[in-house]
Amino acid sequence: IEDLQKDPDVGPAGRELGPHSALVIPITLEEKAIGVIWFISYREHRFDDREVRLLSTLGDQIAIAVAKAKMLEELRKREEDLKQTLSQLSKKNRYESIISAVTQNVHKTINLQDVLENAVDAMSKNIDNVDNVSIYLVEDGEAGPASLPRFNRGTSAQGSPQAVLESYRGYPDWWAKRVRTIPYPIGFTWKTIIEGKPCYCADVDKDTVIGPAGRKMGTKSYASMPINFGGKTVGVININSLKKNAFDEEELRLLEIVARKIEVAINNAKQADALRKSEEALRKAKNELEVKVEERTTELRKTNRNLMAEIAERRRAEEELKNSHEQLRALAARLQSIREEERKLIAREVHDELGQALTGLKLDLSRLASGLSEGVTKRNKTAQRIESMSILIDETIKTVRRIATQLRPGVLDDLGLVAAIEWQVQDFRERTGVKCEFKPGVKHLTLDQNLSTALFRILQETLTNIARHANASKVKISLKKDKDSIVLRVEDNGRGITEREISGSKSLGLLGIKERAFLFGGSVDITGRQNKGTVVAVHIPLRRHTP
Ligand SMILES: Nc1ncnc2c1ncn2[C@@H]1O[C@H](COP(=O)(O)OP(=O)(O)O)[C@@H](O)[C@H]1O
Ligand SMILES: [Mg+2]
Repeated sequence: IEDLQKDPDVGPAGRELGPHSALVIPITLEEKAIGVIWFISYREHRFDDREVRLLSTLGDQIAIAVAKAKMLEELRKREEDLKQTLSQLSKKNRYESIISAVTQNVHKTINLQDVLENAVDAMSKNIDNVDNVSIYLVEDGEAGPASLPRFNRGTSAQGSPQAVLESYRGYPDWWAKRVRTIPYPIGFTWKTIIEGKPCYCADVDKDTVIGPAGRKMGTKSYASMPINFGGKTVGVININSLKKNAFDEEELRLLEIVARKIEVAINNAKQADALRKSEEALRKAKNELEVKVEERTTELRKTNRNLMAEIAERRRAEEELKNSHEQLRALAARLQSIREEERKLIAREVHDELGQALTGLKLDLSRLASGLSEGVTKRNKTAQRIESMSILIDETIKTVRRIATQLRPGVLDDLGLVAAIEWQVQDFRERTGVKCEFKPGVKHLTLDQNLSTALFRILQETLTNIARHANASKVKISLKKDKDSIVLRVEDNGRGITEREISGSKSLGLLGIKERAFLFGGSVDITGRQNKGTVVAVHIPLRRHTP
């Protein structure tokens, strides 16, 4: 520019310089002008070609220097970036390892204490600037930690809630002892529990929340994260540093993740606890049941034994009863037959001896009567006497016969059952005037004498009963025999026997009928219909008694 005053491109500042000439050389970097160098002459000067070339070189050199400086700065910046990235990367890595360690542990064990230990361990090793890590759980003072499974700790003396140190890293043991419990509502631990929100402080000097113990420990910054369970805050994770500004958002995020994992662990522990409890209850119930079953079984066994003994006793008694019954029957049967024999004997004696003696007497009397034919007047009187004696003897002979027959009808022994029944029926008709018909189904019946006697005596008893009780006007008797049984049936048209009379304990006549039939393996059917009559039917199986 030859004259600054005249050039239209020159701005007001250039014009103020006065009447000068100037040379403006661009500083070009990578084909881009990044600046200019002004050469100004206070004289009127014309820069010749040599000067322009020389000064242009200067511009180039400056451009190179600027480029170098820029590059260096760039480099330094990049190095810085790299460093930061690296540190962040390693932090990220370490935090991820914390999370994965805690996660794995939560899935591996149902032991909450184990999970808590593992969590504080991983955090204390991997978080930058952390000096101590602790986990507290709330105990409500009455029955252990609120909503938490059993932790086997005593309750606090006052019954007020307190936060109990469950696990820690970084504290010396004596210090841990001192902060083992934090009474409500001291320090940021309780602030976190009460508010249920994370609590973070970068500089304790500006903090009013931190408790005296924390301050004494020299804590300069801290972060505290609530642990929630069942809609309640049940504990906290605390990380403390002896430096200011030790933690930021990232640590809070980490704490939050760890807290969530611990919540899962608490849930697991609680479920395991519930499971264990229900298992215990189940086992207890099972044991109780077993005991009960055992007791019941013993009882039952005892009852059973008693029952068995009783049954055996009863069976024995029954057997005895049966035996004596049989003996009685045998005795009765024996007596019956003895009686029958005796009757037979007496009947014969009476008939034969008395009958003959009487007949002899009668003969003598008639001889006496004929010797008296031509006698004195008194003779007539004597003859009359003899006559009446003879009549008496005749009567006596009849009586003797009747007694003998009643004792035992000779016809039964001589002519058999059918004839004996016929005779008896005839006798019944005569004695009672009741119509009585007999239909013998057989002409000749060869039966065992004992059986004949039994059937005959049965018939006698039924006829006696009809005469005494039935008030009947007609009686039908039948005796039938087929190939394996013999049936005697006596039917009357009287008032009809009643059920009570049939089974009555005083019905000894009927019992006798049954007993007699029973002796021959037979049975008796007695049926009565009111005002229609009574039927007595005796069935005797034959094979055993007829040869
Ligand atoms: N043919 C009959 N008709 C009506 N009642 C009868 C007849 N046979 C027996 N009874 C009744 O059955 C009862 C029992 O008979 P029984 O044992 O022979 O005893 P008893 O003749 O000594 O009374 C009789 O008392 C009578 O009341
Ligand atoms: Mg009778």
